[in-house]
Amino acid sequence: MGRLTDRRAVLRWGLAGTLGLALPAGTAVLAGMRPRVTPAGASAPAGPPAGAFTRPLPVPPVLSPQSTDGGVDRYEIRQTVGRQRLLPDSDTEIWGYNGMFPGPTVRARRGRPVVLAHRNELSVPTVVHLHGGAVPPEQDGHPLDYVLPAAGSADAELAAHARHGVAGLATGSREYRYANDQPAATLWYHDHRMGFTGPAVYRGLAGFYLIHDEVEDALPLPRERRDVPLLVADRAFADDGSLFYPAVDPTGREPGVTALYHHSGMVGETVTVNGVAWPYLEVDAALYRLRFLNASNARPYRLELDPPPPGGSGFVQIGSDLGLLPRPAHYDMFVLSPGERYDVLIDFSRYPSGTRVVLRNNVAEGDPGYVMRFDVGAKVADDARIPAVLTPEPAPPPRTTGTADRRFSFFSGAPGVRGPAMINGQAFGMTRIDARVAAGSTEIWDLTADPIHPVHLHGARFRILKRNGAVPEPQDAGWKDTVFLPDGGMRLAVEFGGHRGRYVFHCHNLEHGDTGMMATLDIT
Ligand code: C2O
Ligand code: CU
Repeated sequence: MGRLTDRRAVLRWGLAGTLGLALPAGTAVLAGMRPRVTPAGASAPAGPPAGAFTRPLPVPPVLSPQSTDGGVDRYEIRQTVGRQRLLPDSDTEIWGYNGMFPGPTVRARRGRPVVLAHRNELSVPTVVHLHGGAVPPEQDGHPLDYVLPAAGSADAELAAHARHGVAGLATGSREYRYANDQPAATLWYHDHRMGFTGPAVYRGLAGFYLIHDEVEDALPLPRERRDVPLLVADRAFADDGSLFYPAVDPTGREPGVTALYHHSGMVGETVTVNGVAWPYLEVDAALYRLRFLNASNARPYRLELDPPPPGGSGFVQIGSDLGLLPRPAHYDMFVLSPGERYDVLIDFSRYPSGTRVVLRNNVAEGDPGYVMRFDVGAKVADDARIPAVLTPEPAPPPRTTGTADRRFSFFSGAPGVRGPAMINGQAFGMTRIDARVAAGSTEIWDLTADPIHPVHLHGARFRILKRNGAVPEPQDAGWKDTVFLPDGGMRLAVEFGGHRGRYVFHCHNLEHGDTGMMATLDIT
């Protein structure tokens, strides 16, 4: 099931120019996605993949602190090789936080500090980035802030790179300190080593980091087992069940993937959720909160419920990347690009008991067109509700009109050519500053792309002012840190945090970021 018979599946994508995404008429949200081009002779099998929906959805365990002394939650995480049953019929070697994929979930409270002590028991340098965290540069996981393997030593090249980081080289282990001085939100932590973020995240170095606060506590939202984080990630497998990753350099010195995958980034035909291929979840006929994270290296999804609930609009979005929206937004489908989070309610009581609701990815044919299944059980008492108002309306950005302060183009070049992926015509430069901005300021940024690049900013948060030159879509509301650039580009009001120093911004198509589509922001 879902095994990549190596190149064939990817040819369907790669040769389609971009990710082969269908563009149905009348869905403005999707402007920017190219129509599918299916090469002659390629046909996708109908129906769900063999073996799909036979294993229950796992929920990553919540990590317990080693100590809570002084009001600081201190956790320890070992980065190790593990074995895990991603596919139904064989175990796969992974790299995991505490040996598991996804890693354990960290639950934090707004204003209560967390220390994560990471120990690198892998064979390569690692870096931990808290995606969405408002943290100082030396805690952010700059891609050159290597933690060398506990059983290794720095070679000259790594030591030279590390001089251009912000925190300096660590050997074996280091602590990351997070103040959690930000609203309740679904964040995630993942590896971010320069040039090798793609293969490291692909092998499993990713987990949830949830921040809770009083605003969220006061709402009648689903809780505990009805508040479910869903880490969606596609993978490809070799015939022996091992993860297939088309590194251009098997010795692991040169970053990047082979020409066939260079433009698309690493896409696989098997969709995993919380580390299991096409799982199912038995749900009560009640309201659920599903925190979607697209942790795929390169694949965007457009999610829909099949069948939709009677009356439609099965998804009620309550939060975006960086927290709750002012009020809920109702959709039949939404696009989830790599790095983005959508916090969504689904009211399964709208379905008759016994309904099997398939979560479809309706921009892909064949196996990756399926994500997971919800099996609706009996009606139960449920006091969760969909609140009419979630958070106070945020103040409008200080400036929303006029010319842009900066423009950045994201360009990955001609298909089939393994050139650098670039921002404003330049590949990442370790010593170059690409934008110098004032701490606490807000700037207007215009971003354009040879689509379709999911762009992520560290050290900043933004609101969307324009999509494709027009008014934003409902799901562009709220504070975000990652945005999927359409053909016509986006205009953002970017608010820089109060911490001074160097951060990166980059394409969250991880193979693009690894091969140059990253730049440096200096907050002064
Ligand atoms: Cu999720 Cu710079 O990364
Ligand atoms: Cu990109």
